[in-house]
Amino acid sequence: MNASTPRIALVGAGPGDPDLLTVRAARLLAAADVVVHDALVGSGVLALARHDAELIDVGKRPGQGVAQDLINLLLVRLAAEGRQVVRLKGGDPFVFGRGGEEALQLAEAGVVFEIVPGISSAVAAPAAVGIPVTFRGMSAAFTVVTGHRQHGEQPIDWHALALVGGTIVVLMGVAQRGAIARALMAGGLVGSTPVAAIHRATTDLEAVVRCRLDQLADTDVASPATLVIGAVAALDVRRTQAVEEASEG
Ligand SMILES: C[S@@+](CC[C@H](N)C(=O)[O-])C[C@H]1O[C@@H](n2cnc3c(N)ncnc32)[C@H](O)[C@@H]1O
Repeated sequence: MNASTPRIALVGAGPGDPDLLTVRAARLLAAADVVVHDALVGSGVLALARHDAELIDVGKRPGQGVAQDLINLLLVRLAAEGRQVVRLKGGDPFVFGRGGEEALQLAEAGVVFEIVPGISSAVAAPAAVGIPVTFRGMSAAFTVVTGHRQHGEQPIDWHALALVGGTIVVLMGVAQRGAIARALMAGGLVGSTPVAAIHRATTDLEAVVRCRLDQLADTDVASPATLVIGAVAALDVRRTQAVEEASEG
């Protein structure tokens, strides 16, 4: 190993099922001295770490968790100690995971690091329950958007999104689902637009709830979940019958 060999890797853990890790992610996990992970990274994935590896949970949960600045400093310190570090984030590290900020912080500190993409829940959660985010003749685009805005952040223009067409995939949108549905309908989406909410896709807890956009506010959805809004949300291509019905409708 020479000085330019990364000692730290920002690694995507995929949606939950350890079999959906990349080969590179599994190799790095098996070699790491320290694994710094988020709350949504499941025990099955963490079990692939060395038995003597140090596991540090920096997951942010409502009302608790480690501040992002401290996580950034921790990564820089661990890298400086010369240990082999995996920073493990659910899905893809650069899709709403603040991986970009952590990468910038490492770069500013002069730390050489590697980026390992992961399968994002934005596509994995719909796929796991038979929903293709694009479908010829039904959806020629998909938009991935966060439903969670911090105070002071620029609000999402839901009206504009309603005009884009195609499929809308919302991450971190469970708590705000009523407001999101109302804003999309105000922007022009019809109340009968199909919606699917997929909870903890690819894990033992996977569950899908389907409804119409105008029912979303009053539909029970467990968090965390990925919301899929658009015609494809009525599909389950694992059952050909459902596809035919949706295509006719
Ligand atoms: C902070 S974001 C991180 C997204 C992650 N970087 C990715 O690419 O999947 C967390 C949100 O992703 C979604 N999510 C993550 N894992 C999921 C899963 N297994 N099933 C459904 N949604 C999931 C939920 O909307 C959750 O609130």
